[in-house]
Amino acid sequence: MKTKRLLIMGPPGAGKGTQAANIVVEYGLCHISTGDMFRAAIKKGTDMGKLAQSYIDKGNLVPDSVTVGIVKERIQQEDCKKHGFLLDGFPRNLDQAIALDQIFSDLGYELDGVINVAVSNDILISRIVGRRVCKKCGATYHVEFNKPKLDGICDLCGSELYTRADDSEETARNRLDVYAYQTEPLLKFYRERNLLVEVDGTDTVDKVFENIKKALEK
Ligand code: AP5
Ligand code: MG
Repeated sequence: MKTKRLLIMGPPGAGKGTQAANIVVEYGLCHISTGDMFRAAIKKGTDMGKLAQSYIDKGNLVPDSVTVGIVKERIQQEDCKKHGFLLDGFPRNLDQAIALDQIFSDLGYELDGVINVAVSNDILISRIVGRRVCKKCGATYHVEFNKPKLDGICDLCGSELYTRADDSEETARNRLDVYAYQTEPLLKFYRERNLLVEVDGTDTVDKVFENIKKALEK
């Protein structure tokens, strides 16, 4: 199978991370989530992490100068070169999309597809505020829609679950506004290039994944 280079897009809480976890296993890809990279830097207490935190805590975008740099560096690491990758949460505005085009053109890469997971705002808020994430392995759960077997404990590694700092209702509402103004216009950008694969994200996790696979294999 040809090495794939894909994007997964969708509003906050749409299920990008949940689906990405399945997609990267299915196609043997590296998962590049800018949100996860920032949270790892915050946990480590690096300067970049401190800067990113001041934006993330309010639900605003981290400046492009930082974000484009970390993506460019990650894409060029050996595992991504060898296996291909799925970018989750990048690009998030037109300047980032243009920067990504430039990175791909410099490396002689082509973008194979852009998956858009569509979910309406009323559902998104409840998905975000009910999300719980494993402190150790990052697996994602939901207090109602995707419960762990034991309350507050990860099924996969037995570690404690936590609530992301930006998952309060107030911050979630700002994240949805930022998405509507800055990120949603990118769908047109990729649709016009015939790259957009649109999937209804309101189905069950398994059904959404089945639909993504069907659409990618067309
Ligand atoms: P990021 O971490 O990317 O957050 P996001 O885009 O807001 O998306 P989420 O991770 O909240 O949602 P998701 O779509 O992954 O959903 P999930 O699978 O977890 O970014 C965080 C912040 O970092 C940004 O606000 C920004 O500040 C900064 N940042 C990141 N990238 C940046 C960039 N490129 N430029 C600038 N700044 C950047 O699912 C959500 C919940 O729903 C879970 O509980 C899950 O179990 C549940 N769920 C999933 N699917 C289903 C389903 N089908 N049915 C029922 N429940 C479901
Ligand atoms: Mg995510």
